[in-house]
Amino acid sequence: MNYKRVVLIGFRGAGKSTLAKLLAEHLGWDYISTDSQVEQKHHETIAEMVRKSGWEKFRQAEHEIINSLKNITAVVIDCGGGIIEDPENIKLLERQSLIVWVDADTHDLNKRIRDDRIERPLLTRKDMSADIRENYQRRRPLYEKYADFRVNSSHSSPEQLCRVIIQKLRDG
Ligand code: S3P
Repeated sequence: MNYKRVVLIGFRGAGKSTLAKLLAEHLGWDYISTDSQVEQKHHETIAEMVRKSGWEKFRQAEHEIINSLKNITAVVIDCGGGIIEDPENIKLLERQSLIVWVDADTHDLNKRIRDDRIERPLLTRKDMSADIRENYQRRRPLYEKYADFRVNSSHSSPEQLCRVIIQKLRDG
């Protein structure tokens, strides 16, 4: 196996965390969430950080976390949805990594973001539907460009997606 880690990218609500935890369990690798790392390091939730200091502060904090992970192997990295906004993040993440775009149908993205207990601050000053629609459309080509392949959590269970990813790891 040439890959030493799996990096999950994709929009909010796509199901990255569920899949990443399960995958880490199957592989016997560590699970790391960039969002949780930012929150632990700064002793505040992302929502609090964005409220107090703005998105720029969060993006900087996120980048520092990614930089700190650059040499870690045997790990599944669950990335925040906006990781692809900075190409430098991808440069740090792609070493020896299989990068998977976890996608879902727009209907599911909307539903999951609305229903989720995690408070996700809006990315723009628009209403939630417009915020999701516009950012998803803008980011789609970036996820596509940076990922080795795409999976869709609307049509397969996390277990099925794990099997697909593990097969790709073996093939690679
Ligand atoms: C963000 C997604 C969130 C979190 C932050 C910013 C984004 O992560 O990093 O609220 O820019 O889409 P999830 O994708 O895990 O919700």
